[in-house]
Amino acid sequence: MEEIVSKKRMLSGIKPSGDLTLGSYLGAVKNWAERADQYECFYFMADLHAITVRQNPADLRRRTLEQLAQYIACGLDPEKNTLFIQSHIHQHAELGWILDCYSMFGELSRMTQFKDKSAKNEENINAGLFTYPSLMAADILLYQPDLVPVGEDQKQHVELTHVIARRFNGIYGEVFKIPEPFVPKVGARIMSLTNPTAKMSKSENEDTGRVLLMDPPEVIMKQFKRAITDSDTENCVRYDKVNKPGVANLMTIYSAVTGKTYEEIENEFIGCGYGKFKPMVGEAVVEHLRPIREEAQRLMKDKAYLESVYRDGAEKASYVAEKTLRKVYKKVGFVAK
Ligand code: TRP
Repeated sequence: MEEIVSKKRMLSGIKPSGDLTLGSYLGAVKNWAERADQYECFYFMADLHAITVRQNPADLRRRTLEQLAQYIACGLDPEKNTLFIQSHIHQHAELGWILDCYSMFGELSRMTQFKDKSAKNEENINAGLFTYPSLMAADILLYQPDLVPVGEDQKQHVELTHVIARRFNGIYGEVFKIPEPFVPKVGARIMSLTNPTAKMSKSENEDTGRVLLMDPPEVIMKQFKRAITDSDTENCVRYDKVNKPGVANLMTIYSAVTGKTYEEIENEFIGCGYGKFKPMVGEAVVEHLRPIREEAQRLMKDKAYLESVYRDGAEKASYVAEKTLRKVYKKVGFVAK
């Protein structure tokens, strides 16, 4: 008899609070696309999370759809992955509230992202910013995933999700599966081109050190030409993350878009200074992103298609989410409708 082995489930989200960067592509979306056959995958646009920082409504709407178009253009096939918009699944907000009641003030106060964001947004330290991790726990736990791929900066939130899930399971029995965070090794952290010790960020508008997925070739080339390499006298392409973080970052990017190892890259650029290396990385990135940009632009014009994707996604996602939420409502003692 044929054995039916169900695939492991994976889930992740990105806030549509800024345009996708080369960093989010290489560190996240590209890896996701490669996993569609091994896992049952759920990916969503975290618009509920985006409003913890004030957003212009028209921009948020546009960026959410652009993000979906870009996910698909990056290779997330809607036939193989469940792609949805977080606010379409009301169960996220509902479970978020419940988990607020199982998240401790002290725990939420210790989150580094909360501390960083409050320092940056002193005029708008709202309650949503504070309870952000309980909503993120709800996003995750609703789908009972095995793996949650996240960047280094989100690991603490996934760890808190464990604490909340264990606390809940400890009181009510095995309601939630305890998921593993999954931080990919290569390309996990693409750094700013002008400040290679800080992550390439989508939220810093004026950051000259970032490349957006949709940037035209001339902008990408300009960014790479002015990338900070290191002020060592060596002027040689060699991987040394501690002493040559700028060069190491460029090598990581080059490796991710060409598939070459660091050793192969070092050999390729023997005797070639940073002045030649930087535009070569730029060109490799331009060529890698060209088909993605063109496909995303084409998809953005096809609103009917995008709508069919997020509607289908919402239908599949809400089926799973509702099952978990119903169980939770029953466990905590709410009267059935
Ligand atoms: N907090 C994540 C970020 O800022 C986005 C996110 C929201 C997320 N909910 C999630 C990621 C659930 C993984 C799982 O990038």
